[in-house]
Amino acid sequence: MSRSIAIDGPAGAGKSTIAKKVAKSLGFIYVDTGAMYRAMALYMIKQGIDASESDKISATCTTADITIKHENGEQVVYLNGENVNGLIRTEEVGNMASASSVNGDVRKKLVELQQKLAETTDVVMDGRDIGTVVLPGADLKVYLTASSRVRAERRYKELVAKGVECNLDDIEKDIIDRDYRDMHRENSPLMQAEDAVLVDSSDMTIDGVADRILELYRERV
Ligand code: DC
Repeated sequence: MSRSIAIDGPAGAGKSTIAKKVAKSLGFIYVDTGAMYRAMALYMIKQGIDASESDKISATCTTADITIKHENGEQVVYLNGENVNGLIRTEEVGNMASASSVNGDVRKKLVELQQKLAETTDVVMDGRDIGTVVLPGADLKVYLTASSRVRAERRYKELVAKGVECNLDDIEKDIIDRDYRDMHRENSPLMQAEDAVLVDSSDMTIDGVADRILELYRERV
């Protein structure tokens, strides 16, 4: 039987950095489900579909072939045979992903794919609905969060390092708005699963959080 760790939480809590570290320590595969929603969003953009056209999104998602492979320890997302890793981290794709991920048909298709992956492989999977919907039987569920201010400061530092001019208060406001949208959508809203362990990374280092999750996992398995 394969093993699984589910890590959910709001944007900017450090899920992907920590999930990657935990997966490496355990020899599990890291699955970034946000990247799948982003690949689906890229497909919608390429088809000329607008975020508001939910019927078209439902009809079109059936023809998107999204697969995940692991090459040199990195997750690579293929959209209809094309490696799209370099195309899915833009603001435009992120905004479309936020809109198209509320669509029930998109979610059904991607959740099935995620469940199939976890059936045969030991995974650390991160997202918004992993503990609640995708892997309700995960060996360990973590709800990873941090205060909106701390998450804004992390994002601010990343942007400044890239030479982007930005304002900390504006970034925090965006984060608060996105949290609200993610937590109040009808389909699979972001919430802590009943049996998930809450980890607040506001005052913790990356290694501190990863060690805590590894400790929790070893207690359970
Ligand atoms: O984590 P991210 O920013 O790459 O996610 C992109 C979008 O996909 C984001 O708006 C939330 C959504 N998403 C989701 O609805 N369910 C998941 N399991 C993962 C991401």
